[in-house]
Amino acid sequence: MPRPVTRRSIPAMRRALLRWYERDGRVLPWRVRPEDRASGATPDPYAVWLSEIMLQQTTVPHAIPYYRRFLERWPTVADLAAADRDEVLAAWAGLWYYARARNLIACAESVAEAGGGFPYDEKALLDLPGVGDYTAAAIRALAFDLPANVVDGNVERVIARLHAVETTLPKAKTELKALAAELADAKRPGDYAQALMDLGAMVCTPRNPVCGECPWSKWCMARDAGSPTDYPHRAPKKARPVRRTHAYLVVQDDAVWLRRRPDKGLLGGMLEVPSSPWREGRLRDGDRIDPTPFTGEWTPVGEVRHVFTHFTLHVYILRAPAPSTWEPESGRFHASDTFADLALPSLMRKILKTGGETP
Ligand code: ADE
Repeated sequence: MPRPVTRRSIPAMRRALLRWYERDGRVLPWRVRPEDRASGATPDPYAVWLSEIMLQQTTVPHAIPYYRRFLERWPTVADLAAADRDEVLAAWAGLWYYARARNLIACAESVAEAGGGFPYDEKALLDLPGVGDYTAAAIRALAFDLPANVVDGNVERVIARLHAVETTLPKAKTELKALAAELADAKRPGDYAQALMDLGAMVCTPRNPVCGECPWSKWCMARDAGSPTDYPHRAPKKARPVRRTHAYLVVQDDAVWLRRRPDKGLLGGMLEVPSSPWREGRLRDGDRIDPTPFTGEWTPVGEVRHVFTHFTLHVYILRAPAPSTWEPESGRFHASDTFADLALPSLMRKILKTGGETP
């Protein structure tokens, strides 16, 4: 029988988790390991912030090369704030969510303007572009070793299992956060937060948890019930699949290449910014990448999401100047000051606007 988590068991649980982390926790480039922290090393808040923004959308192995490239090229937040936007967006290509990259630049500018140091106060952190509850807590704990309740999807899973929380996600979020707060360690917040992340990533994994190696197994109610993978419970999702596409924003002087969509089908007969086929699954799958209309300098300039009745479309916008000899096979160039009068659906207006063309 496991013992449920009680006020008395909490100190032992913290110790067990930290001991496990000291022995088995990951070595990551933005991380200061406990033994180094103990000998006075402190993390670089800029590095912690950068890694957290990258990790919001991708896995640790995928993020590491981007992280290294960014730090090499822009070693301080002031360097990033002063960087050429297009270069930053280009370096971000492959991490996809460009709204995040734009927020990244805006945040760097805001921090650099205020003197170059990251704030550690929660409210000041939350005021930064692209920094929400989770990221603010992560920066406080990881960068400054200040008390914070760092709860992401991995931590929610660990806590839901530990307490066998029956409420379904997303409703359970508040409850899980409160339960996580009871456990959070105020003496070693940075190590504790990273230990819990590692526990979720390495031991209490979504499909194949390794309960035999878990420092919390003797307190885990889901393990006792014999079904850790049943937790967290999730409310059934409304199924709306995601399709993805590249839109090709080709500009010539003040004009943009537009073409008319087929009369039948979605947005029939309206003008469009030409795009690759709208497909489910990943945009770049193995070696397959849709050919661009011509070989040229394609710069990723933004992302637009649009909800249709039966699917959501994620549009990744690539922009290029038209080569002087190039002529479109279909469609033609339209001056941007005529956009207001054109049959452009809202999706296309969003694409033009995000891509830097004011419709
Ligand atoms: N996931 C989110 N933030 C992380 C971090 N700092 N280290 C490892 N995994 C993470």
